[in-house]
Amino acid sequence: MATRIAVVTGGNKGIGFGIVRELCGNFDGKVYLTARDEGRGRAAIEELSKVGLSAHFHQLDVDDAESIANLADYIKKTYGGFDVLVNNAAIAYKNAATEPFAEQAENTIRVNYFGTLAVCHALFPLLRPHARVATVSSSCGHLSRINGSEPQATALRNKFGSPTLTEQELGDLMNQFIIKAKEGTWKEAGWPNSTYVVSKVGVSALTRIQQRAFDADQRPDMVVNSCHPGYVDTDMTSHRGPMTIKQGAVCPSYLAMLPPDIKEPRGAYLWHDKQVVDWVNGSTPSIV
Ligand SMILES: NC(=O)c1ccc[n+]([C@@H]2O[C@H](COP(=O)([O-])OP(=O)(O)OC[C@H]3O[C@@H](n4cnc5c(N)ncnc54)[C@H](OP(=O)(O)O)[C@@H]3O)[C@@H](O)[C@H]2O)c1
Repeated sequence: MATRIAVVTGGNKGIGFGIVRELCGNFDGKVYLTARDEGRGRAAIEELSKVGLSAHFHQLDVDDAESIANLADYIKKTYGGFDVLVNNAAIAYKNAATEPFAEQAENTIRVNYFGTLAVCHALFPLLRPHARVATVSSSCGHLSRINGSEPQATALRNKFGSPTLTEQELGDLMNQFIIKAKEGTWKEAGWPNSTYVVSKVGVSALTRIQQRAFDADQRPDMVVNSCHPGYVDTDMTSHRGPMTIKQGAVCPSYLAMLPPDIKEPRGAYLWHDKQVVDWVNGSTPSIV
């Protein structure tokens, strides 16, 4: 049997670090902590080693095509394939950020949506049968967060929630949002006033599309889900979240280690307590 391999993006701190820690203790194989900055990544590996946990390092900037290609190449040459991918890396502008909305939109969608997509495009061909992919979305990534009542917002919700939405159409929606942000007309076009919300609705919608592709894949039992990890005490939340990093890692780690041949969740959106939430017609169990 080949050594099982797990890869976590943005693993040097916050929830990503918590997920690596959880996998080091419970995943039956090698765990790769990836980070865009080698120094920060290796420091995190060192921190884990102090508590007797062993993770491996590889550089990965999800916003850099060459870096993504390097990781794919390394996995292919070293192991031939891998088993678990946790898409955790993301950015969020602070409420007080002074960058123009259009700039925030372009950067947030590029990293959180198109960066995650590029990682999936490069790494999915290397996934082995029974692979598990966990994408860290957010409470902001529930479809209801496209929350306008005007017809334009309803039309957007219908598009995102369509069971036949394609990756191309979803990419077009993400790009349309950036265009509207640059024109200054995003609100009239039905979009919410948060670039982060749009990026996270995007990755949750992507998860549903990817599961359809997995279901049609020759490799058996491929599963991808997205989740809200909870409101967690990390740099991203300026340490306002009440949950610990360990608690925030619970649902993503659960999704990364779902047992073989599980019937559900598949292509689903989960809350931090592991409950499956109806992404299209439901509401979130709480606001955060
Ligand atoms: N904290 C919460 O309450 C909360 C709630 C809902 C969802 N989330 C989601 O949970 C995930 C982790 O968030 P967090 O709170 O742990 O945030 P965080 O403390 O800010 O950590 C984010 C991680 O992502 C990495 N990253 C950012 N851009 C990257 C890039 N281009 N390539 C590779 N890595 C990159 C960061 O690396 P650097 O150290 O190099 O910046 C860092 O390791 C994110 O997807 C976030 O949206 C968090």
